[in-house]
Amino acid sequence: MIDAINVRKDFPILSATVHGKPLIYLDNAATTQKPECVIQTIDELYRTSNANIHRGVHFLSEQCTQKYETARETVRKFINAEKTSEIVFTAGTTSSINLVAASFGERFVASGDEIIISEMEHHSNIVSWQLLCERKGARLKVIPFDDNGILLINLLDSLITERTKIIAVTHASNVLGTINPVKEIIAKAHSHNIPVLIDGAQAAPHGNVDVRDLDCDFYAFSGHKIYAPTGIGVLYGKEKLLEQMPPYQGGGDMISTVTFDKTTYAQLPLKFEAGTQNFIDAIALGSAIDYINKTGRQNIVEYEQKLLGYATQKLSEIDGLKIYGKADQKVAIVSFLLNDIHHLDTGMILDKTGIAVRTGTLCTEPLLSHFNIRGLVRASFSFYNTFDEIDILCENLKKISLMFK
Ligand code: ALA
Repeated sequence: MIDAINVRKDFPILSATVHGKPLIYLDNAATTQKPECVIQTIDELYRTSNANIHRGVHFLSEQCTQKYETARETVRKFINAEKTSEIVFTAGTTSSINLVAASFGERFVASGDEIIISEMEHHSNIVSWQLLCERKGARLKVIPFDDNGILLINLLDSLITERTKIIAVTHASNVLGTINPVKEIIAKAHSHNIPVLIDGAQAAPHGNVDVRDLDCDFYAFSGHKIYAPTGIGVLYGKEKLLEQMPPYQGGGDMISTVTFDKTTYAQLPLKFEAGTQNFIDAIALGSAIDYINKTGRQNIVEYEQKLLGYATQKLSEIDGLKIYGKADQKVAIVSFLLNDIHHLDTGMILDKTGIAVRTGTLCTEPLLSHFNIRGLVRASFSFYNTFDEIDILCENLKKISLMFK
């Protein structure tokens, strides 16, 4: 079992005060805090090893290149991919999805084709596909969810046609917390030879991801949500698909030879890594994954599920508080509204007590439309949060409720 009090010592920011109160950071679905080892990796790299990768014969360049490729191997193991050629470093989940929408879309999607997403997608897994649909004259179809926040995957059969070119769904909702039955969706899609992209932004921080077990074709996630820096992320893609897709961007490092008549491209994964990559943060992502592995992924899952259970129970006991997202399988995210108090008011008053939660549309306007609401308050937990912090959140919500009576 995780000892959160001890774990917290690894995260310098968690001892901060906000408005004179100890920080209670419950906005982990937006971004996670960084452990000392990740901060140290960045600091040390800039002090001792910084040099551009894949380009120099000099010592520092070779050292950095080796660390960058070691980080790629660390990521490969983290998601149990078969080969490092299937691990593309990107700027984050959004970049990963845009890469697939642009490149897979260029090669495989034509006028009249269809793309299936779900009603609970983050804007990044909606708009990227809409842009493709507009470019190609393709059509977007949507798997709905029920009022508990559970995808109605029995409707998938009626949505799939011979024009369906790809299905893109989130592994876990950033609002409802729902963990979707992606393995089942993938199996169904594959029985029609349709590839599947999984948005893993909210699942990668909270559990084991095994791309070979899922058999997904693409898996996207961000470093900053798994204790690594911002600006680095991952696209996993099956080699046989990545091979067939054209480069997303042109530039240095993604080529094999260049003449004015014709350019040939580098092998995977470099074909998709044009220009100077964010190698420092990629190496720091490796450190973050080492830290997660040291803490124990199963320990993290078990502890966060306890936090989720406790928070759900305590929040449910507050008069007038309504939780959105009541699936049995959830990551540690609880979104809610308190009476008819505006979500921004709740968020701003909580902030004055040192509590950081997310408020607003949470980048999911279609999801909010399902419930006919304009915004939510979201508490999202990490293994460094404590049960006491949940108690303080609930006490303050009760006070806010009284203030607005
Ligand atoms: N996608 C992030 C969130 O849900 C930013 O807050």
